[in-house]
Amino acid sequence: MKIVNLLNKVLKRPNTVTTRDSVVLITGAGSGIGRLMALEAARRGATAVLIWDLNEKAAKVTASEVEALGASSHGYGVDVTKSDEVETSAADVLKEFGRVDILINNAGIVTGKDFLDLSDEDVSRTFEVNTIAHYRVTRQFLPQMLERDYGSVVTVASAAGLIGVARQTDYSASKFASVGFAESLRAELRHRGSKVHTLVFCPYYISTGLFEGVKTRFPFLLPILEPQSAALSVIDAIEKGTQMRVMPGFVRLAQIMRPMPVPIIDAVADFFGINSTMDDFTGRKNEAARPEDE
Ligand SMILES: NC(=O)c1ccc[n+]([C@@H]2O[C@H](COP(=O)([O-])OP(=O)(O)OC[C@H]3O[C@@H](n4cnc5c(N)ncnc54)[C@H](O)[C@@H]3O)[C@@H](O)[C@H]2O)c1
Repeated sequence: MKIVNLLNKVLKRPNTVTTRDSVVLITGAGSGIGRLMALEAARRGATAVLIWDLNEKAAKVTASEVEALGASSHGYGVDVTKSDEVETSAADVLKEFGRVDILINNAGIVTGKDFLDLSDEDVSRTFEVNTIAHYRVTRQFLPQMLERDYGSVVTVASAAGLIGVARQTDYSASKFASVGFAESLRAELRHRGSKVHTLVFCPYYISTGLFEGVKTRFPFLLPILEPQSAALSVIDAIEKGTQMRVMPGFVRLAQIMRPMPVPIIDAVADFFGINSTMDDFTGRKNEAARPEDE
């Protein structure tokens, strides 16, 4: 037995999932990194790439782009905060495609508001899309992955799920919760001896338009990421069996600093300009914006 296989057995690592010949479902893939992950999965030989988005028109456009790359596709208008829509579309997907091998919980929103400007509705909506939806959607597809002991569940979280950020009391908290969801799901699958893979993705800002206006103080350490490199990083991580990916690597500092006294964590965050990043945030003006940068 190869040393790598032996190590994987001892560490009880999950199965590696390949994109080739797989059925992939991505939420929020009408734009941004979701759309780019869908195109990359098609380029790598996925059998089918299924697109869910609140914006049905955008979902259908991504689906036609996927088809042009040779994979089957279908764009569904699904609001992941609505259980009935999620259940109906999941049943359609399983009926038509038989299974989902790779599920990417990617849909996300941000208000960018100061704490005192946040309404209950803002906070609920942010948690509904960024966190609760992951339970709702994963519940639909995990049973058939468990039956086959094969598949991958991806949580698109954020670097803001590792460190709190000014003007993100709703967003950052929802992403901390999604990191907790992913970590607990990984623990539970491992505990029951399942080989189903999970990945949690924690990127710094990405120039998709979602965080339009954000700025970074030290771009050589904390660059605003290109959407294409973020999307490729997720697909690569799935294929390598990586279980947590932070991007860029410097974001790991947020994890390393955790045990330190709070004044030190705060001073380091201030030095790197983390709490000023949102000062000029405007967010996406056009909901259906579709980045050209592939
Ligand atoms: N852009 C960044 O700087 C950044 C940084 C860290 C993490 N992320 C995360 O990456 C993910 C993708 O973000 P993006 O930058 O590609 O943004 P994006 O706005 O381009 O894509 C998000 C997609 O989610 C869809 N969506 C929103 N609410 C939905 C709902 N209720 N149901 C179904 N679809 C819904 C939108 O229509 C949109 O197409 C999000 O989870 C986001 O939090 C983004």
